[in-house]
Amino acid sequence: MESFGGVLFPGGLHTQESLKLAVDFPFQETDVLIVSYPKSGTTWMQEIITLILGRGDPHLSHTVPNWARAPWLEHHYFAELQEASSSQPRVFTTHLPNHLLVPALQEPPGSNVKVIYVSRNPKDVAVSFYHFHKLAAFLPEFSTFEEFLHHFLDGRLCYGSWFDHIKGWTDQRRAPSNLLLVTYEEMSLDLSGTIQKVSSYLRRPLVEDEVNSCVKHCSFSSMKVNKMVELQPGCKRHNGPQQRFLHEESSAQIKICFAASFSCNNPGKVGDWKTMFTEEQDEYFNSVFKSKMDDCALDFVWEE
Ligand code: A3P
Repeated sequence: MESFGGVLFPGGLHTQESLKLAVDFPFQETDVLIVSYPKSGTTWMQEIITLILGRGDPHLSHTVPNWARAPWLEHHYFAELQEASSSQPRVFTTHLPNHLLVPALQEPPGSNVKVIYVSRNPKDVAVSFYHFHKLAAFLPEFSTFEEFLHHFLDGRLCYGSWFDHIKGWTDQRRAPSNLLLVTYEEMSLDLSGTIQKVSSYLRRPLVEDEVNSCVKHCSFSSMKVNKMVELQPGCKRHNGPQQRFLHEESSAQIKICFAASFSCNNPGKVGDWKTMFTEEQDEYFNSVFKSKMDDCALDFVWEE
């Protein structure tokens, strides 16, 4: 684990140097930045943006891994990828909390960056993140969901507190000047509408056929079989023990492992938390949520 700016990050993927490079990143005014707390639909947004910029053509999304198309600013291999990347606009991704990136986004050219904050109802985030802890070798494993849920609600996880993350990025006093909020639930309930909303924010309007092609290639079923975003060997639980991820394996495999957006059995839907939460856990969650989100006007969709 790496502790940086009061937040824990998984070691292996992050180093003090890579985190420092991220917070001092010299943005260009044409950059696009996807920001999210883990398991909120980040990879989905990477796919949507790739498709929008390609006017619905899936070539890039089928030939280049998502972590290279829209690299994470804070990962240790970022500098290497950045040198190789020549896409315009440049698209980046981050899970960093607002207080670490806000200085880089306050003054031009950073203040012109188009930021897209992707959020998801936190009960589904908690369940998805719990499964991901079992899958990703760079995260600690929890023996029960109960134990994990307490860590989630107390903010004692890598990437910090979900509450601080969303409140930091959406608080009007601290939010970047160019900010589009997109929820996992709206992508799920109206993918076509969301694609059009994002494409007009990026000033890349699409014709109907192009929107339809984006919808087709960003659907759950298409992304699940796309080898450039699908679960890859290298994760703890992929295709049995012979493929268990070993920490001493090369950084290239760490990259591949991190590209795993789809957990083995997760359905990628709204309201999956109901299959996991007990009544007591739900009550406890609701009471913590109410006390921590009292000062936040955001609405959440909890089920389909
Ligand atoms: P589940 O674990 O609930 O299935 P992130 O990319 O931020 O890590 O988020 C991962 C979550 O987004 C996973 O949720 C994954 O299934 C879901 N997801 C990714 N692409 C999706 C798509 N096209 N449709 C629906 N859900 C998607």
